Amino acid sequence: MKKITFTEPKENNNSDNILLDNIFDNPYLMPSEYKGDYTKNGGLTKFQPRKWTEKEIDWVFMLKEKGFNTKQIAECIDRDVTQVSIKIKRMSKKNGATYNVNHREDKYYTNELFLIEIKPKSVLDLFSGYPSFYEDKVDELYTNDENEKLNSYYSEKAEKLVHKLYYENCKFDLIDLDPFGSAYDCFDLAIKMSKKGLIITLGELGHKRFKRLDFVRRYYGIESIEDFTTDNLIKHIIKIGERNKKILTPVYVKEWRNISRVYFKIENLKIQIKELKKTT
Ligand SMILES: C[S@@+](CC[C@H](N)C(=O)[O-])C[C@H]1O[C@@H](n2cnc3c(N)ncnc32)[C@H](O)[C@@H]1O
Repeated sequence: MKKITFTEPKENNNSDNILLDNIFDNPYLMPSEYKGDYTKNGGLTKFQPRKWTEKEIDWVFMLKEKGFNTKQIAECIDRDVTQVSIKIKRMSKKNGATYNVNHREDKYYTNELFLIEIKPKSVLDLFSGYPSFYEDKVDELYTNDENEKLNSYYSEKAEKLVHKLYYENCKFDLIDLDPFGSAYDCFDLAIKMSKKGLIITLGELGHKRFKRLDFVRRYYGIESIEDFTTDNLIKHIIKIGERNKKILTPVYVKEWRNISRVYFKIENLKIQIKELKKTT
């Protein structure tokens, strides 16, 4: 197992001048694909305005939780400090001062409960961030994050990595899929490779806020906003399990603002083959 050597940025450092000696070494630089489209500058700001994306907002609050100040966050997401400050204030007002801090605490608490429940020895943390929650908690940990600066065991797109691992006949007691958006493209192979448990964060629920059905229609066959529920997404995932001869039982279902996280216990499905009576 590769040793993680990355040094954490200083938390809650009051100095406005710390940060990124060299921006190219900054592991918290937001991936450019999380940026929204640029819009016309009406002359009110020095910077060309850019639409906020959900992934960008999640990134901001992830940095905030890590103790970054507004100036540092602005640098990581390539925006003006004032824009970031206003956005954080607005989002905090809208969602409660802590935004997703409570959700994170609850997530880690539930992770702990699930570890006690299924006692995994090996874990594949496919969207690990840094540090992985499972660090020092299990015998064998394989972390992955597409952000190469995080120095995880693998640095691949999770959707590609699952193919490589499956081809190599890898199996894990527990697989954790914790993307910002949807990890649908990993579901099938993750189910095939999980022996005891699978945790899935359903970021696709974020589309509900914008009444967007295009994704869930294509992926889950959901045709109306009323049917766009955590329960229906779970039912669909259970079906993928059955197709793979696995029983997926949701042990914990957590629902937070526009996101759910489901902790599935996995067992093999024993198919009884009924003997066909000969009709001679
Ligand atoms: C929600 S955060 C993970 C949080 C972490 N699991 C935790 O509990 O603190 C999602 C992470 O997935 C990474 N990521 C986003 N898209 C990815 C992809 N396609 N493949 C692998 N990692 C990805 C991001 O860099 C980010 O660190």
